[in-house]
Amino acid sequence: MRASCTDGREEVIEAWYMDDSDEDQRLPHHRDPKEFVSLDHIAELGVLSWRLDADNYETDEELKKIREARGYSYMDFLKVCPEKLPNYEEKIKCFFEEHLHIDEEIRYCVAGSGYFDVRDQDDRWIRISVKKGAMIVLPAGIYHRFTLDSNNYIEAMRLFVGDPVWTPFNRPHDHLPARNEYLETFVKKDVSNQAVDAAA
Ligand code: LAC
Ligand code: NI
Repeated sequence: MRASCTDGREEVIEAWYMDDSDEDQRLPHHRDPKEFVSLDHIAELGVLSWRLDADNYETDEELKKIREARGYSYMDFLKVCPEKLPNYEEKIKCFFEEHLHIDEEIRYCVAGSGYFDVRDQDDRWIRISVKKGAMIVLPAGIYHRFTLDSNNYIEAMRLFVGDPVWTPFNRPHDHLPARNEYLETFVKKDVSNQAVDAAA
């Protein structure tokens, strides 16, 4: 399922290539000059996105349709801030370790904001900023990490197909079938296209 392009997603979801500095992970880390990345580009990496009505998620028909279409039967909420999250410092560190999952990571930002970083086909970091109303799906097998931004607060709805498994596999975990499937689906096809182009 692809979300349409005229739904105001850009107001709550933005993506850009990151710089290489070791400064505070909560800073935007734009390159100089800034290099924004379109939502179509991140969709090519398998990252889906929607803008939804976060004030009415309980009755939102669009969310209901997405959950039905994609089988997202499980749902809970996670607040990430020092007061609400047990073992906050430790969790923050884990979230920012580069990792993958063998299932989709589905997050709907219903309050606050944060950054999901994903690797592109050339292993460069793309930072995806999500604000209230942004829902994103990271495909199984993509290397990624998460950090709060300088507002230090996010409340996310977490969705899952069936019983949730949040296990992160820190990089490198390239032998997992989910990693291979990810590469086959979203990365290798580009390599073979380039090979065809080069041969032409
Ligand atoms: C997760 C995010 C932090 O795995 O990537 O929950
Ligand atoms: Ni994750």
